[in-house]
Amino acid sequence: MKNTYDIVTLDGDGIGPEVCQAALQVLREACGSSLLRFASHEGGAGHYQRSGFVLPQETFDACRTADATLHGAAGIPGVTYADGTEVGNDLHLQLRFKLDLFANVRPIRLYQGVKSTLSDWKAGQIDYVIVRENTEGLYASRGAGVNLRDELVTDTLVMTRKGVERVAQFSFDLARRRHGAPRDGQRRVTVCDKANILKTYAFFRAVCTEVASQYPDVQIDYAYADAITVHMLKKPDFYDVIVAENMFGDIISDLGAGTVGGLGMAPSAELGLDHGLFQGAHGSAPDIAGQDVASPLATILSAALMLRWLGDRHADERLRSAADGIEKAVEEVLAAGQTVPYDQGGTARCSEVTQAVCRHLG
Ligand code: IPM
Ligand code: MN
Repeated sequence: MKNTYDIVTLDGDGIGPEVCQAALQVLREACGSSLLRFASHEGGAGHYQRSGFVLPQETFDACRTADATLHGAAGIPGVTYADGTEVGNDLHLQLRFKLDLFANVRPIRLYQGVKSTLSDWKAGQIDYVIVRENTEGLYASRGAGVNLRDELVTDTLVMTRKGVERVAQFSFDLARRRHGAPRDGQRRVTVCDKANILKTYAFFRAVCTEVASQYPDVQIDYAYADAITVHMLKKPDFYDVIVAENMFGDIISDLGAGTVGGLGMAPSAELGLDHGLFQGAHGSAPDIAGQDVASPLATILSAALMLRWLGDRHADERLRSAADGIEKAVEEVLAAGQTVPYDQGGTARCSEVTQAVCRHLG
């Protein structure tokens, strides 16, 4: 347990500053003035345009030594590298690979008061977590692919035994800490892959199956990446924890978010052995930046994930209870239905949603 925890904040681009500052306001309300010490640092596409650096060394050093990093969003359309890839995304990707944040934890949960795009599903019936392997798979090729004479271009899908083992162990440990799938209460890890087609995914499945043998109390389940997109719509209550390679995890986590209110309800915790990066999974939404209309809830819920992760790491009940408080306040705001964010069909501004969460905390 520490007296004070050092948190780096990276506002970033687009709606990033608004949602990150909203989460800070909620954290200050939940934790008081001395438990957390915040340090704002530069990074993202806008900073790249001004300085030539998407992730300045001093920002990286601060993230490496802080207790956790809270990020708004990064990316400006049209700000790209020569190979056509977006500069802003490089902020996340450099942090993921350099801090070895191998587990990208994406809760998919339907809250009371939020209308699912899936008819007839109620709060509590959709409550699972996608664990996306975050440091290899198809993303290992970023910046390393081949371009021959602009005629032949390749990116390689990379899997390592260490990489698959550790994300599988993380997923089974997470299932042990959870309460099982809503449908049957069964602690379950679903391995999402295309083992029927590619040897890399057959390897992913085989290593996950080896790991599963250490967890007789957790059921292992398998689903091909195409099939799971149907199952996530037809039987979302079956899922407890889904583990997937990087690119598949990126895709199915947006689909999952779409079933529980959209990306405005998509928090994430990107975790390694020694570092954690917390951000909404929605991106920088430049079209609505600066208008106070973005939903801060994904970043606020990511801040709660940050407190819970820190609380568990440091056995600090103050942090765990603050995380509970924030999640409860978000639940109450949504259930009350008086402060509905724009992305859920309402007219509540970012600042108004933030103030409502703070009121419920108070
Ligand atoms: C995500 C985003 C990122 C990804 C981008 C912004 C780098 O889509 O976190 O889901 O592709 O992983
Ligand atoms: Mn994504």
